[in-house]
Amino acid sequence: MTFTFLATAAFGLEGVVADELKRMGFAARAEIGGARFSGEPADALRANLWLRTADRVLMVLCEREALTFEDLYQAVYAVPWETLLPRDAAIPVSGKCVRSRLMSVRDCQAVAKKAIVTRLMERLRTNALPETGEAFPVEVAIRQDQLRITLDTSGEALNRRGYRTWNGEAPLRETLAAALVELSHWRPEQPLYDPCCGTGTLLIEAAMRATRRAPGLKRSFACERFGLIAKADIDRLRAQAEAEYAPEVPFDIGGSDIDPEALELGRRHIRQAGFEYRIPLEADDLRRLQLPQENGVFLCNPPYGERLGDAESARALYRELGLLLRRHPTWRMGVIAADPAFERAFGRRATRKRRLYNGRLECEFHLFVGR
Ligand SMILES: C[S@@+](CC[C@H](N)C(=O)[O-])C[C@H]1O[C@@H](n2cnc3c(N)ncnc32)[C@H](O)[C@@H]1O
Repeated sequence: MTFTFLATAAFGLEGVVADELKRMGFAARAEIGGARFSGEPADALRANLWLRTADRVLMVLCEREALTFEDLYQAVYAVPWETLLPRDAAIPVSGKCVRSRLMSVRDCQAVAKKAIVTRLMERLRTNALPETGEAFPVEVAIRQDQLRITLDTSGEALNRRGYRTWNGEAPLRETLAAALVELSHWRPEQPLYDPCCGTGTLLIEAAMRATRRAPGLKRSFACERFGLIAKADIDRLRAQAEAEYAPEVPFDIGGSDIDPEALELGRRHIRQAGFEYRIPLEADDLRRLQLPQENGVFLCNPPYGERLGDAESARALYRELGLLLRRHPTWRMGVIAADPAFERAFGRRATRKRRLYNGRLECEFHLFVGR
């Protein structure tokens, strides 16, 4: 059975997610909020296991206009829930309403839940649904009167790879870090260095890519518990991901930070990600940094200078990043920053720029190539 899936993405990363899906062999198409592809239920697991930059993989069950609660009820009722959910399924329904006639999230959730339960009770010929089994998270999203009903195949969001259990002051989400590695055009044979690495997210994501480690290898996904994917397919996809992982592949990835506490967390994350002794972290000030390697990539997420009085010191550090690149003329540098004056402070125009969001913060990723 073929389904449509939506791999959701942070604003600005839709194309990156679509490219990842294409490399996996799917005919994917980017759209606002994510990238769409189609496949069998087992393909949802493959996407969950391998996508580095997406937030979730949703199974799209219905899309149509919904102007009234009756429209909503009928659309939800029309989904063949009895073929998707087991008798004891727990069915949490979440909702989202944006610029639509139906704007009460709570009412939409309640109407959708009633439609699902009514259909299931009719088709299963029962008058009670225990909801004691696995959770099948349903989302009802209405944007500009267009309804989309989805089943979340991921469970916990995909950035939860399992290695980050403590957070530093301003950690970069794992999915965004993976996207920055992608956007820097770093090749795993090159050195990669983060001069203000904090808790090390960019470095770990780069190491995962270098070793072809599926980001979902050490966690499970909601779709594995759905019963829609044969156990043999789950075992095969997981065995393939295990076989693909090449921990012994050589790479040159490292970083430094001025804050020893952040580095302590970084070392812990590196150990938890299985890269102990492979990603060296040093306590160092980037203003003094000098590396011996050639043709590397600096990749970093410097302080944002958001707090009052911090903007000036953040700009002074952006200038230092510009000087760091000048001291390493064969290197390139990718920097994510929210300050519109970033390039001026850095001392040079970016070769390429891309607008994206770090959480709610609008940012730009700047890539500096050549001299
Ligand atoms: C936004 S955080 C980086 C977060 C990191 N990407 C992570 O995932 O945890 C910015 C980092 O820059 C570091 N920093 C500030 N000034 C520095 C300097 N002069 N040299 C090196 N690191 C510095 C801070 O200690 C902080 O950890």
